Amino acid sequence: MDKIVINGKRRLSGEISVQGAKNSVLPILVATLLVNGVSVIHNCPCLSDVDATVKILEYLGCTVKREGHTVIIDSSDVNRFDVPDNLMREMRSSIVFLGGILGRMGKAELSAPGGCEIGLRPIDLHLTAMEQFGATIDSSGGAVLCNASEGLHGAHINLSFPSVGATENIILAAVLAEGTTTITNAAREPEICDLADFLNRCGAKIHGAGDGTVTVEGVKKLHGTEHTVIPDRIVASTYMIAAAMTGGRLCLKDVIPSHIGPVFSPLREAGCDITVSGRWICLEAPRRLRRIKMIRTMPYPGFPTDVQAQIMALTTVAEGTSVIVENIFESRFKHIGEFLRFGAKISAEGRMAVVEGVKELHPAFVKATDLRGGIAMVLEGLCAEGETTVSDIYHIDRGYEEPENVFSFLGADVKRMTDNERKEVKPEEIILS
Ligand code: UD1
Repeated sequence: MDKIVINGKRRLSGEISVQGAKNSVLPILVATLLVNGVSVIHNCPCLSDVDATVKILEYLGCTVKREGHTVIIDSSDVNRFDVPDNLMREMRSSIVFLGGILGRMGKAELSAPGGCEIGLRPIDLHLTAMEQFGATIDSSGGAVLCNASEGLHGAHINLSFPSVGATENIILAAVLAEGTTTITNAAREPEICDLADFLNRCGAKIHGAGDGTVTVEGVKKLHGTEHTVIPDRIVASTYMIAAAMTGGRLCLKDVIPSHIGPVFSPLREAGCDITVSGRWICLEAPRRLRRIKMIRTMPYPGFPTDVQAQIMALTTVAEGTSVIVENIFESRFKHIGEFLRFGAKISAEGRMAVVEGVKELHPAFVKATDLRGGIAMVLEGLCAEGETTVSDIYHIDRGYEEPENVFSFLGADVKRMTDNERKEVKPEEIILS
């Protein structure tokens, strides 16, 4: 299994553009199932979650071609409605196939997605919504069988929580359903808007994406189109935090600053100078970061749960005591145990963590616990003098495209090592016991 090895204490500096958004591209790829014809998706990041999604599309009967960051999907011959267990397990968010397959085929059979590294991921909101469209659900045999033999009809669906995945599934099921669907308390994340933009280009009639209320007027069919995925706001935030933690200076080009806005205010509170101009963001870090009094993760436009681990990494080296409350997932503090190995001072109870910043971190040998927790460990390593190793980086590869190259480009000493690559040991490093 690959590892990332970091020689820390180098200041990051430079200009980068940011990969396409993982959380946009996955539902958009699923949405191509609803199209009669060819979809061309640009700015598609090379990630293991994208590979897993493509495998499922191919299993369902799509022909998929990849040319660099462009994916071309011909969905003319979709002929299956089931996703087998091994493919479901490859990607945590595969539940979003439910609305896509049901909308295209009138029925869907998915093995039940299990828990994941950041806690249980219940799908009650997804299933109740599909029932409101007129589908029947049978989840007795470990798989979810969803059947809409009479076709799907528009519904008024009020979400008790603005779930991103449930909002996406409802939109996917609604675009070809008979009549109009209204979603209230819908998720407002930029990735929902990107999905709606793609579908509208294909001929769907979706209004209000990005607001709490989304209306979808069902249409008879969708045609193929070209679409460019939005830049990844979580990856952008991660690199900004990395620059902040190393006392660096970073400019991000071709990003959508408003999407990253929720992360600006804690970074400014920590003493970073952030300037925005058009599609550029520049960050200049202070000599020593200050504490961030309180961070609460919230649905968009609140502070993203997907940046919680990275901002916690920042607070471990900031002056003073910071408090972080995780409101979205019940078990998203697994990285804390690994942070402690760097000498971080953190105590946590339930959904709250109290971080007392230290002046210096020391290098450590740590294991990525999940995608965002894993990259946050790399950030810790960037701040620690000496060699840090982060193992189990398959988690990181789900969402970050070649992070070792991005960090190296910015001046860090970060390498990927495969199991076959034995580290060269210099004679002076051999300690005889
Ligand atoms: C998406 C993102 C993920 C992000 C999360 C929250 C993708 C591929 N993933 O995940 O990176 O961390 O949004 O911004 O876009 N819930 C229920 N019942 C349900 C559905 C959700 O109780 O039927 C709960 C979940 O357990 C969780 C909360 O709602 O506590 C948020 O989940 P949700 O917004 O659905 O996240 P995902 O779509 O899974």
